[in-house]
Amino acid sequence: MAEILCAAGYEEAPYPEAASIVVLNTCSIRDKAEQKLRSEVGRLAMRKQHQPELVIVVAGCVGQQEGKRLLKAAPELDLVIGPDNIAELPGLLVDIEQGGVKRSVTEFDLNAPRFLSANPEFSQVVPSTYVTIMKGCDERCSFCIVPYTRGAERYRSSAEIIAEIQRLVAAGVREVTLLGQTVNSYRDPDELLPKAPEIGRYDWGHTTRKIAEQDESEFAALLYAIAERAPGLLRLRYTSPHPRHLTRALIEAHRRLPILVKHLHLPVQSGSNQLLKRMIRRYTREEYVERVSALRDAVPGLALSTDLIVGFPTETREQFAETLSLVEQLRFPSLFAFKYSPRPGTPSLKLGDDVPETEKSTRLEQLFAIHDPMRHAHLASLMGTTQEVLVEGRKKDGAYTGRTVRNEIVHLGARADITGQLVQVRIALSFKNSLGAELVDEALRISVNELPRVASHADDANLRPEGTENHGSGELIPAPVRRVDVSSKRQLPVI
Ligand code: 5AD
Repeated sequence: MAEILCAAGYEEAPYPEAASIVVLNTCSIRDKAEQKLRSEVGRLAMRKQHQPELVIVVAGCVGQQEGKRLLKAAPELDLVIGPDNIAELPGLLVDIEQGGVKRSVTEFDLNAPRFLSANPEFSQVVPSTYVTIMKGCDERCSFCIVPYTRGAERYRSSAEIIAEIQRLVAAGVREVTLLGQTVNSYRDPDELLPKAPEIGRYDWGHTTRKIAEQDESEFAALLYAIAERAPGLLRLRYTSPHPRHLTRALIEAHRRLPILVKHLHLPVQSGSNQLLKRMIRRYTREEYVERVSALRDAVPGLALSTDLIVGFPTETREQFAETLSLVEQLRFPSLFAFKYSPRPGTPSLKLGDDVPETEKSTRLEQLFAIHDPMRHAHLASLMGTTQEVLVEGRKKDGAYTGRTVRNEIVHLGARADITGQLVQVRIALSFKNSLGAELVDEALRISVNELPRVASHADDANLRPEGTENHGSGELIPAPVRRVDVSSKRQLPVI
């Protein structure tokens, strides 16, 4: 959105209060996210009383879900747009400027899907960035609102994906994360991809051949094509995969492609087969464990993270104990857990919301009580080791932050600007959610003793603490706040 608006002549306001247009980008995955939007709109409505020319836009999934209802509930809003209507934003802002009526534009582009392409000339180049490869979701997980806010699955052509990655790499990007709601269900609409190795190998102990055939995709083939045609790319990640599409071919791609990181975020949601069935996840605990084991065999040292929901309707204590036992069994170095939140229009609504709030909190606490030591042991096991870190940026306080190939966050100091570099570091500190390190390169090294204050602060302030419900693509993503470029012809008010 920021890029589209900048290309249309707007520019970023230095701070929110200086903006004449505020775009709130929203997530509706849980009710809490929606609440945040409502309070933010309330604050902006107060501001609009003494700044009547302020333009307030709601974009994203809450916009899609609520549409006109939002305009009715908050008359201060000027525009509501859904995730598929971002490209129309500049034109819609012109309409507002010309005194047009308030509108809610929430059309899915089902027949001619559009994918926004990052243009590195307009955006600031960062070492690690995202590339969308598919949108929408054909799963029907009973708790999840995504199929209704994002529509049916649509895939971007492999040629377009690869061209975008090539442009990004040429502009200095080092790491790309492929994005999609069920990213590994990808199929190339242009059918340009050669078959990936191990396509058609369905020798699972817990999945019938018929089901496994249905779950095959072309995602592995896309990974090979990217690795081959974007040779300057150092690391490739993807999120979020669905376990049923973690096929033999995809596991083989992990084994063969050094560009793929040693980390996978593979949401499991529950350890109980009865619950998985009620959640309509389309796999069993045994299937999940079998595939994870095959992946771990293929990629020694792989770090697996997951999402879990506690207090799904009808979840008994015994069933919740099965989730605990799965966490014990698989020892995820990192996990995100959420209290079940009933969402409008989802199939699980008819099951009620019978696990009391206090019980949900207790289960969340129990989960973290068994997971905290695991995470701590994992981070502690890295102390003293040498790791390769891709440096993503520098904090205001001077510490650099990057990630290991397994996704652990590392803070370090340096005597020169190392942003965007792949550096060797020695791990010397472990915090709650991250690590502190020193550069192996003596000439650039800053002692780790100068780091604790900075890094522990960064750890507290910037990482989503586990055990809360802050995980996700950002519940209320900091909005691209714009003011009008005074030099542009457009005469929108500027503060
Ligand atoms: N309630 C609680 N958590 C949810 N998630 C998705 N929908 C809900 C819901 N209704 C969680 C899942 C998913 C993550 C992004 O959000 O764990 O993997």
